[in-house]
Amino acid sequence: ASKSQAPSQSVGPGYRPDTQKPTATVSTEIPHQNVHILEQTPQLIALLTMIRDKNTGRADFIFYSNRIIRLLVEEGLNHLPVVEHTITTPVGRSYSGVKFEGKICGVSIMRAGESMEQALRECCRSVRIGKILIQRDEETAKPKLYYDKLPEDIADRWVLLLDPMLATGGSALMAVDVLISKGVPEDHILFLNLIASPEGAKSFAERVPKVRVVTAFVDQGLDEKNYIVPGLGDFGDRFYTM
Ligand code: PRP
Ligand code: URA
Repeated sequence: ASKSQAPSQSVGPGYRPDTQKPTATVSTEIPHQNVHILEQTPQLIALLTMIRDKNTGRADFIFYSNRIIRLLVEEGLNHLPVVEHTITTPVGRSYSGVKFEGKICGVSIMRAGESMEQALRECCRSVRIGKILIQRDEETAKPKLYYDKLPEDIADRWVLLLDPMLATGGSALMAVDVLISKGVPEDHILFLNLIASPEGAKSFAERVPKVRVVTAFVDQGLDEKNYIVPGLGDFGDRFYTM
């Protein structure tokens, strides 16, 4: 288990004095350039507080997870390439903006990653979604690959890889290996993740440094069963079956 200290910080807008802002545990900072952590706003911390609470039932867990996942997808889209695009408004003026360039697809790591598909569909209409079924062995925490079904032209797409939990990093790395074996360039993969452990983020960043990670929070560490701490327990169970 990691010994890292949980950082604590006042959360709230910069114009408010610290004495008027509550203090909360915020994400651990990590030195990896390819890992982008969402801004630790009061809203994000409140949503995370809801889903981390062991007394939060399934309906609320789904509702508040979905809100965080939507923030992750919206931020993730900022990391895809855009090109300049000028349009004319109804009052005849031109506006120089941008538009997305290139084709994308989602790939969820089943089962928990499927919880992130809805937010992706809400932001990217009719997006193609591939699936990779990887399960951690409950005793050893080693991942096992069971199945994959991916768009045929995936090598020509930007891939948004979806999994809410990055614990040891084994499952996500195995999924990236599958994508690379299908011809997807490492720097065309964007991993959207809700909670990461520092150990998982480190091994992921070192093994596949060109994969960009967008996460809501880096936690303190892993327990003896390789669960993230403080974490939120088993995401898949809480979202689907508990
Ligand atoms: C969980 C989680 C990740 C993985 C993370 O899945 O959704 O896929 O564990 O752990 P790791 O970083 O140590 O590999 P699990 O295999 O429990 O399956 P589930 O999605 O069906 O719950
Ligand atoms: N998978 C989860 O759902 N939670 C953890 O803490 C680790 C792996």
